[in-house]
Amino acid sequence: MPLPSEKSSEKNVSALLDERRTFPPSAAFKKSANWNDPAIYDRAAKDPEGFWAEQAKNLDWFTPWTRVLEWNVPWANWFVGGKLNVAYNCVDRHAHSARRNKAAIIWEGEPGDSRVLTFGMLEREVNRFANALKSLGVVKGDRVAIYMGMVPELAIAMLACAKIGAAHSVVFGGFSAEALRERINDAQAKVLITADGAWRRGTVVPLKAGVDDALTGTPTIEKVVVLERVGKAAPISMKQGRDLWWHDVVAKASGECAAEPMDAEDMLFILYTSGTTGKPKGVVHTTAGYLVGVSTTHRNVFDIKEDDVYWCTADIGWVTGHSYIVYGPLANGTTTVMYEGTPDFPDRGRFWELIDKYGVNIFYTAPTAIRTFMRWGKEFPEKYKLSSLRLIGTVGEPINPEAWIWYNETIGHGRCPIVDTWWQTETGCIMISPLPGITATKPGSATRPLPGIIAEVVDIDGKPVGPGGGGYLVLSKPWPSMLRTIYGDPERYVQNYWSRYAGKYFTGDGCKLDADGYFWLLGRVDDVMNVSGHRISTYEVESALVDHRSVAEAAVIGKTHEIKGQGISAFVTLKEGITASDALKDELKNHVATKIGAIAKPDDIFFTAELPKTRSAKIMRRLLRDIAEGRVLGDTTTLADPSVIARLKDQAKDEG
Ligand code: WTA
Repeated sequence: MPLPSEKSSEKNVSALLDERRTFPPSAAFKKSANWNDPAIYDRAAKDPEGFWAEQAKNLDWFTPWTRVLEWNVPWANWFVGGKLNVAYNCVDRHAHSARRNKAAIIWEGEPGDSRVLTFGMLEREVNRFANALKSLGVVKGDRVAIYMGMVPELAIAMLACAKIGAAHSVVFGGFSAEALRERINDAQAKVLITADGAWRRGTVVPLKAGVDDALTGTPTIEKVVVLERVGKAAPISMKQGRDLWWHDVVAKASGECAAEPMDAEDMLFILYTSGTTGKPKGVVHTTAGYLVGVSTTHRNVFDIKEDDVYWCTADIGWVTGHSYIVYGPLANGTTTVMYEGTPDFPDRGRFWELIDKYGVNIFYTAPTAIRTFMRWGKEFPEKYKLSSLRLIGTVGEPINPEAWIWYNETIGHGRCPIVDTWWQTETGCIMISPLPGITATKPGSATRPLPGIIAEVVDIDGKPVGPGGGGYLVLSKPWPSMLRTIYGDPERYVQNYWSRYAGKYFTGDGCKLDADGYFWLLGRVDDVMNVSGHRISTYEVESALVDHRSVAEAAVIGKTHEIKGQGISAFVTLKEGITASDALKDELKNHVATKIGAIAKPDDIFFTAELPKTRSAKIMRRLLRDIAEGRVLGDTTTLADPSVIARLKDQAKDEG
């Protein structure tokens, strides 16, 4: 198992590891930080279960747990016997406290409309929609699919599901109809919640049209609830007996709804993510452990104070939005900002305008966004004060030191600690990150595992490498917000995460430890790409390509990309009699977008008569990566036909 990211960007990796600058927290920040005593690491390491039990006391329980953890590798039960409700913890308990009139969600629509929901208002909206779901026949244990843009009703729908004990499966609004259909069928969802459309750069994303297409092959869907968001801008058709307007179903619904007492281990949601092979995996998160994980990390990694306005720019269709727009912040009674659109609409200053408009104190975004802002230039952020900011964070991929420094200076004005947070859909919450009142940061390093998290870097045999070494990142002990299984496929859960190293969770990421024991994440070691912080598997894109009638075979690789982290390059062999052309390239790119979504569109397609294969017919992706990135080729001795490579190289050169 080589560390491909190391191979594919050797220069970047060594630049990263040569980084020597450190940024200790200021005395003032340290003094007022939620966690500022380094002893917390030792305390948690000595007794992780005791540590997590202490954190769990921040939630409201209907029935307390009797055992913190039952662990039969790789099956975990956390907070055994405990009963609670996630929506109750995120909404009701605040609505019935001094926070009743505090802003829970500050929402900004792309066209400039805005809405503030206090905890009191949010409680009524969640209850009304929860009752509406009940009236549609949704009961505890059912699955509800959600396919919407970034509107408050998306969070309301999720919380309403949680309130009545239905599991939601949110599908990112940028996914295609086909991807939606596949996810609905895997989860066997009974109801789908959507909107007529969503605003994106001034135009409408026609969500309902996609839904109509998706639902041609989804036998389990009984009802569709449609939110009117764009109205006349994109008229839709409603199917009688199946489709209902959101405003109609809530019109008569009561604003009161008792929270369903859920077992600590009842399923809260399914979220699909890409794996190395096969179709997307339905990652299952459960009630108590997930909420303990996200609330604890949200409060302490972001150093949340009562009056903070907190903004995470992710889309709720991804795990970052689930954990750090909806569940973490709301569980902590924090004001969370939700923005519908893109950072460049109506101009490239939109994010900074919003920070000033709402007095955002904590800002959490992705390195790919930061690199885009760098390219757009300082003049946009410099038009705004940004003086409310107190802490800034990143997630989704390694941040290059240059982007870190730009973020620190241009957005943080040198006064905001930066938290570079490493985690995954499967981990549920942040695992490796600085604690802003304790940790001296180094640009490009996520620093060290949080208290209560036991992470190690191991070699191919599973032996810890120790400071200065490099290898594979594993999590050596269970943690509360870990995924519990893959929906409907427990075997795949065991196989994917727990079979590489006995008793340890395999992350799929390469990592180095520096002399101080800091973790430097190097990217995926498997065939999963990270495109603009989105996880896409090479396998999925290959499957979409070979699905096209002209394609015989395809090999896809992630190619280092200045802004996106990785771009997608596809090597395609055409069927007999098909002629290569630029028009066909476009057709294939669009075909992938139709099959998966625009995020998976290849950046470039190379037509080739053959693909480099080993004698056992395995495609040598490593060589394709070398070719795509214009590098000296690695070992080619295992190639069945070395001349294939020479031809491909010449062609790649010609096509630039
Ligand atoms: C990558 C997103 C380096 C990593 C929350 C991981 C990171 C994958 C970081 C999970 C970071 C995420 N530094 N790499 N701070 N954060 N990653 O499931 O490769 O969409 O395995 O979850 O993103 O992506 P996912």
